[in-house]
Amino acid sequence: MNVIRFTDLCAQGKAAGQRVFIRADLNVPQDDAGNITEDTRIRASVPCIQLALDSGAAVMVTSHLGRPTEGEFKPEDSLAPVAKRLGELLGREVPVVANWVDGVDVKPGQVVLLENCRVNKGEKKNDQALARKLAALTDIYVNDAFGTAHRAEATTYGIAQFAKVAAAGPLLAAELDAISKALALPKRPLVAIVAGSKVSTKLTILKSLSANVDQLIVGGGIANTFMLAAGLKIGKSLAEPDLIDQAKEVIESMRARGADVPIPVDVVTAKTFAADAPATVKDASNVADDDLILDIGPKTAEILSAQLREAGTIVWNGPVGVFEFDAFAGGTKAIAQAIAESSAFSIAGGGDTLAAIAKYGIEKQVGYISTGGGAFLEVLEGKTLPAFEILAKRAAG
Ligand code: 3PG
Repeated sequence: MNVIRFTDLCAQGKAAGQRVFIRADLNVPQDDAGNITEDTRIRASVPCIQLALDSGAAVMVTSHLGRPTEGEFKPEDSLAPVAKRLGELLGREVPVVANWVDGVDVKPGQVVLLENCRVNKGEKKNDQALARKLAALTDIYVNDAFGTAHRAEATTYGIAQFAKVAAAGPLLAAELDAISKALALPKRPLVAIVAGSKVSTKLTILKSLSANVDQLIVGGGIANTFMLAAGLKIGKSLAEPDLIDQAKEVIESMRARGADVPIPVDVVTAKTFAADAPATVKDASNVADDDLILDIGPKTAEILSAQLREAGTIVWNGPVGVFEFDAFAGGTKAIAQAIAESSAFSIAGGGDTLAAIAKYGIEKQVGYISTGGGAFLEVLEGKTLPAFEILAKRAAG
C-alpha cells in the first residue's frame, strides 16, 4: 500500500515552519485516581512528535482517551495526565489546549496537546464540517494512530480527506510494513496462533487466516471447540458447540490446500477454575466429564514449538492457556519461548498477548509488537483499515 510517509517529508525539509497536526493514539489505561498504568502507546508516539519538532514544525498532537460523550467535557476525559507523561518523555513541557477546533496558537519548535478529540461534536460520525475545520488547522496532517486505524472518525479519516497533505507517521508506517511483511509477502511456512475464549469473536479471523497460513494453531476456548470438531471430548470446558460446523469448515479448507490446524494431543486439566486447583496432564482422548481444560499439555507444546522454530513467519494473537495461573501457564510459556528462539519474522498483538510477552520477557525477540488492539484484529480479519485506505487514496492524488 502506497502512502506518503512523514519521515520522507521531513527528510526533504518539507515540514520546516509548517503547521503539523499529528493524530496519535494516546488512549492508555488509567487507575481510578487517573494515574497511567501502562504507557506503551505514549512511548510509541514520541518518535513522530520528536521528528516533527526536530524538523522545525509547529506541532499539534491529539488523541482520544476512552469513549466520552461528545460535547460534554468531564475532567476524567482530560489528556492532562498524558501530557505530563509525554512531557517527561520529550524532556519539555507539553501544554494542553481545550476548545481548539476553531484555531490553535502554536509556533514552529513548539508542541501542544489538543484535548481529547472525542469530546468534539461530530468526531465519531466523521462529520464533514468538523473534518474541514480540523483540516484548516494544519499544513500537514499526520496519522500515527495505528490503535485507532480501524475507526473512520473526523481525526482519523475526514481530516485526511481535506488536509493539504495527509501522511502516515513513523508508527503507523512501521505497523503497515510489519503487517505486509507478515501477511502479504510472508516468508513460509507462515504459522498463525489464534487463541482466546470464543470462536465466535474470532471466526472471521480464523476464516481469513485459514486461506493464507500454513499452520493455524488454535488455543484456549477456541481450541476446545476445534477438539469437539475433531471428535474429542472436552468435559465441562469452555466451548461453543453451535460453532462446531464452522470449525470443521476451517479444518477442511486448510486440509484441502495441504495446510493444517494442529489439534492438541494432550492437555492440562483441573476440576475447578482456580489458581490453586490441582493440575493434571492427560491425553486429549482421556478428558473426563467433569474436567476443565485450562492449557495445552507438554507433548502438544513440544509439537507446536517445533513448528514455530521452523516457521518463516509467525503471527501471534492470544495465549494458549490460562497463563495468569502458574499451573496452567506452561503452554503459553513454551510458545513464547519457541517464538523467541525462532528465526522467523514474528508479529504479535492484542492485550493478553502483550501481557504474555511481558511476563516471559521476550519483547526483544519478537519481530514486531503491534500497538493495536481492535485494529490488529481487523487486520487479521483481512480488512483494509479506513486510516490506511484514505492515506493511500491521498497518496494516489
Ligand atoms: C483501542 O484502545 O483499541 C483504541 O484506542 C481504539 O479505541 P476505541 O475502541 O474506543 O475506538
